[in-house]
Amino acid sequence: MKVMVIGSGGREHAIISKLKQSPQIDTLYALPGNGGIARDAICVNVGAKDIDGMVNFAVKEGIDFAVVAPDDPLVLGAVDALEAAGVMCFGPTASAAAIEGSKIFAKDLMKRFGIPTASYETFDDIDSAMTYIAANEPPFVVKADGLALGKGVVIASNRQEAGQAVSEMMLERKFGDSGSRIIIEEFMTGPEVSVLAFTDGKTVKPMVSSMDHKRALDNDMGLNTGGMGTVAPNPYYTEEIAAVCMDTIFIPTINAMNSLGRTFKGCLYFGLMLTPKGPRVVEYNCRFGDPETQVVLPLLESDLFTIMRAVRDGTLNETEVRFADRSACCVVMASEGYPQKYETGFEITLPEKTGADEYIYIAGAKLDGSTLRTSGGRVLGAVAVRDTLSDAVGAAYDLAGRISFGNAYCRKDIGAVALKALAR
Ligand code: AMP
Ligand code: GLY
Repeated sequence: MKVMVIGSGGREHAIISKLKQSPQIDTLYALPGNGGIARDAICVNVGAKDIDGMVNFAVKEGIDFAVVAPDDPLVLGAVDALEAAGVMCFGPTASAAAIEGSKIFAKDLMKRFGIPTASYETFDDIDSAMTYIAANEPPFVVKADGLALGKGVVIASNRQEAGQAVSEMMLERKFGDSGSRIIIEEFMTGPEVSVLAFTDGKTVKPMVSSMDHKRALDNDMGLNTGGMGTVAPNPYYTEEIAAVCMDTIFIPTINAMNSLGRTFKGCLYFGLMLTPKGPRVVEYNCRFGDPETQVVLPLLESDLFTIMRAVRDGTLNETEVRFADRSACCVVMASEGYPQKYETGFEITLPEKTGADEYIYIAGAKLDGSTLRTSGGRVLGAVAVRDTLSDAVGAAYDLAGRISFGNAYCRKDIGAVALKALAR
């Protein structure tokens, strides 16, 4: 079969690397892919938001199956357009992708169907948002309604910060239309867990849990980023908590989407917080997480393509989704300065060979002739799978140490919180 994957990051490289193991796939394409993905798939110069371009390419090339990985094309209706053109897809339709595309939609869904989450108020004019801030006690969590590259959330510890966030979103339009409506919600506390789940709208099969490290600097300091590293499984996510999440969050969410006529098929990402009052939803994403995918898929023992077809065809209940009882760690190597200003164009030197169960997933790099050069903030993920988390963390850092490029930066404490939790 001919399969194309939409997207260009480390997540897409991890998906492509796993799909490459499937005996059912003859040719893999990446739209647009990147300089590292080019080693594993044929990269085609069609942007991830160019829906017409991807449909035209798929039809011309006779693509059998498409995996739409990023949020933007999903929210823009890539799956609807490709399926209408006769291309089978893994991923939700635009109407189901609203679960990520509009935070207000997601919060209203949870409220209506009794799914545990932070309490909240919605605002579409700045005056009432400011009045609310004046009348309530901090901390405030201010969120832009629409997609904002993971940057549309501000945790404000006082009224002045909250007011500034509201003003940046609604008045200065920092996130364009995404901030024309906002949410102010209750501040929750507790360990965070990411759970990616396959669902065909009837059955939910959660993948191994993971822990992201969102802040730029060690000890969770500095600015929020797309994610500086991950470990899996997440030690806070016990079997007991998993069972509670299945009953109170995962199944109710699938049922809620069905009852609104927005059946969700694909990978549904549950961003959870384990609060003193029980697990609550922080956010939904309509797609695989990045860099969660880089630790979750290397632990998947079943054939990814078989699962993706079953999700699309509605036969997930008959399909095995099995994970290795091991641990994985991904250390993201970024350009110094990310997520703000950084220089790119530096040559990347990779080890000749990686060891067993070690992977390098390229995110922000392009080919200059045969030389791989940095081209983005997050450049790559160094991943290792081992029997214990401690060994996986050690091996991932060891692998990162064998990779070099100008202005390389990584956090030194990926996995530290998880290891501490395991030692309790
Ligand atoms: P989001 O983009 O919604 O995942 O938010 C980014 C990060 O902000 C989350 O990973 C949490 O660490 C934090 N966050 C979001 N909402 C809340 C909340 N209601 N209470 C505490 N922290 C939150
Ligand atoms: N790692 C967080 C996300 O993919 O949204």
